[in-house]
Amino acid sequence: MSESGGRYAHITGWGAHVPARAVTNQDLSQILPTSDAWIQERTGIVERHIAEEGEYTSTMAIHAGRQALKIANLDPSVLDLVICATSTPDYLMPNTASLIQDGLGAGNAAAFDLNTACSGFVYAVSVAAGLIKGGLYERILVIGAESMSRVMNWSDRSTCVLFGDGAGAVVLEASDRPGGVLSSKLGSDGSGGDLLMVGLGTRLPITQDSVARGETAMKMNGQQVFRFATRIMSEATKEVTALAGLQLADIDLIVPHQANTRILEVAAKQLGFAPGRIYSNVHRYGNTSAASIPLALVDALSEGRIRAGDHIVFVGFGGGLTWGACLVEWSFGPQDRHWSASQRALRWIRDRLARVKGGLHALDRKLAAAGRGRRKGDDGGPWRGLGPGQP
Ligand code: COA
Repeated sequence: MSESGGRYAHITGWGAHVPARAVTNQDLSQILPTSDAWIQERTGIVERHIAEEGEYTSTMAIHAGRQALKIANLDPSVLDLVICATSTPDYLMPNTASLIQDGLGAGNAAAFDLNTACSGFVYAVSVAAGLIKGGLYERILVIGAESMSRVMNWSDRSTCVLFGDGAGAVVLEASDRPGGVLSSKLGSDGSGGDLLMVGLGTRLPITQDSVARGETAMKMNGQQVFRFATRIMSEATKEVTALAGLQLADIDLIVPHQANTRILEVAAKQLGFAPGRIYSNVHRYGNTSAASIPLALVDALSEGRIRAGDHIVFVGFGGGLTWGACLVEWSFGPQDRHWSASQRALRWIRDRLARVKGGLHALDRKLAAAGRGRRKGDDGGPWRGLGPGQP
């Protein structure tokens, strides 16, 4: 996928959210045979944030999405589509993006989940940019959100110390002004699916025993994944740069998936980049899978590392095996996203109205279901609450 003529997809808003509870390496060393020194030396991770009771992939995503809409100064009601990149959805059904769409009050948006694990955000931005450039949609909210702590085997020190929870979001908008997402390159090698997997699904019976044996939790061949990640990060970066008609020297900053400092160091060497041109905040959050690139993006923006006109590469790799890269000509710095008091007030009012409308829809459905139950003279039986069209 490379540049299309006339219609462009710009990133106009961004947001991030992590749970309040930070768990340090030191904390983990109290419950596992590990140490702060081992984790920092082998991964660069210092702490990660872990969702508390009542916090889910969707609730973190809603916080991040709201911030992104605020920066773009958009009402949720004008969104055409919500894509949630996640491998840790709230449920198998309904999809998490629909929960987010409802939570935001984005009543006019379609919604779907996209699961390519740690590459999910790059896949989702690529799909969203394609839909915008193709003329199907004007405004799309892309969110990477994960509750990795809920699929860990907390007695497997080789995996559980690596991951964390969080969410990051961007708004993509159509424009005829050149720039935005210039090129994308996505890839997959399903033969490596067993190198990094969470067995939770319909193939493996979920029983007390399978859960107790850790079969439904994350399993990983760390060394093979390491080799794959270092190779693919530099390859995908080179490919996406060439597709945009640029040279590596034109890239101002790579915002990569945050798995491990050593992976980023090897990739920097392969690309001939000084370490400072590859952004890292893995020490703060660990590996948050599909959330890691937007979490890094928001930190890089707030540290002033990205300015309007910069060429940025997002590059992700992970379970599947999957990988992907996008090259973005950055359109707006944080300083360009200041809105007047009246613009902010108007958006605030519309935002509240959209949420009230969503709540009224839900109430309306409940009342209608209760009415149907009464008319039948029964309690609705096994079909109770399933909506119209049921016997
Ligand atoms: N604390 C202390 N020791 C640990 C440990 C931990 N948390 N995890 C593993 N070890 C031990 C191992 O048991 C092993 O001990 P042994 O030599 O007595 O058998 C030793 O450390 C070395 O294990 P090894 O697996 O060879 O370590 P490594 O140098 O390959 O580092 C990873 C392990 C997981 C950090 C590394 O392979 C990695 O980063 N892989 C990529 C993972 C990744 O990024 N996945 C997500 C991609 S999206």
